[in-house]
Amino acid sequence: MKKILIINGPNLNLLGIREKNVYGAETLSDIARKVNEEAEKLNIDVDFVQSNHEGEIIDRIQSARGKYDVLIINPAAFTHYSIAIRDAVKAVEIPTIEVHLSNIHAREEFRNKSVIAPVCVGQICGFGGNSYIAALHAAVLL
Ligand code: DQA
Repeated sequence: MKKILIINGPNLNLLGIREKNVYGAETLSDIARKVNEEAEKLNIDVDFVQSNHEGEIIDRIQSARGKYDVLIINPAAFTHYSIAIRDAVKAVEIPTIEVHLSNIHAREEFRNKSVIAPVCVGQICGFGGNSYIAALHAAVLL
């Protein structure tokens, strides 16, 4: 059975409260529940975590080596400037899919660039919580 780790970055614990016009009304727990339901259908094993701390995200990525087949990451604001998270993704050599709820390319200029995407297999953004579901399906195809 494929094992997938889904990592969520800072402020995503505030989904459902935070900028609902951009991120929607779903909470992170709502998304986690849908992800788990879909994972069951796809016969994959998923762990879903969130952290507001860059170092903790890096520790998670590093300890995924040998344990997970695919990483799905929403690095949130770290997307746009964390070379440390980029280096961790590159170092562990686990196929990684970047996800975002919003279409970062249609927003402020500073969100248009991801420093993580170049070390990922690909990026899925703009589908709200369904970005995670699409990423799960993409992960199955890897
Ligand atoms: C986000 C987009 C980022 O620019 C932002 O900092 C987030 C959420 C998204 O899922 O759309 O926190 O990653």
